[in-house]
Amino acid sequence: MTQDSYVKGIKRIIINENEIKTKISEAGKYIDSLYDGRPILLVGILKGCFVFLSDLMRNVSVPCEVAFIAAQSYYDGIDSSGNVDIIMDLKKEVSGYHVIIVEDIIDTGRTLSEIFRRFKERHPLTLRVITLLDKPERRIIDFNADISLFTIEDIFVVGYGLDYGEYYRNLPYIAEFNAETIK
Ligand code: IMP
Ligand code: MG
Repeated sequence: MTQDSYVKGIKRIIINENEIKTKISEAGKYIDSLYDGRPILLVGILKGCFVFLSDLMRNVSVPCEVAFIAAQSYYDGIDSSGNVDIIMDLKKEVSGYHVIIVEDIIDTGRTLSEIFRRFKERHPLTLRVITLLDKPERRIIDFNADISLFTIEDIFVVGYGLDYGEYYRNLPYIAEFNAETIK
């Protein structure tokens, strides 16, 4: 990847830094109101969640722990493989916790429906899902987050933690990826 093709991959900004900041601040307040002082465990799905989660947790004021799992449903490209592998799981018991699963984007719904099912089996006190982005048009499995910050159309996006081939996670905004650059 050259600097030139890296830049060409960014088609247009669809959500800017300020819009992200505002929505995350609202989401933090909403989480505070839901849990009303009770401690929560934020479980991020790596790698896409890590930028969102780090901003989200700083907007939450209830006592808050954080843990990560890693799932793989995209293999360096735009098309989903159809399989969901949990390649790194939690070490801790979640039965004593109010758990919120933190995801970057819900696309087909496969990743979250599978992870949600596995977490349900471990009997957390409560279980909710928050996603930064939602692409409802792409849904194959009927699954919706409890909290969704932005609904977007059926386009491939990068930035703010989301990647194309592991690149672009560092962009501070969310941009449409220019698929022309890889043809
Ligand atoms: P799902 O299992 O199809 O819902 O896919 C969820 C995962 O696919 C997300 O956690 C992302 O890692 C990836 N993904 C889906 N859409 C996009 C996108 O537009 N840009 C980057 N990654 C995406
Ligand atoms: Mg992801």
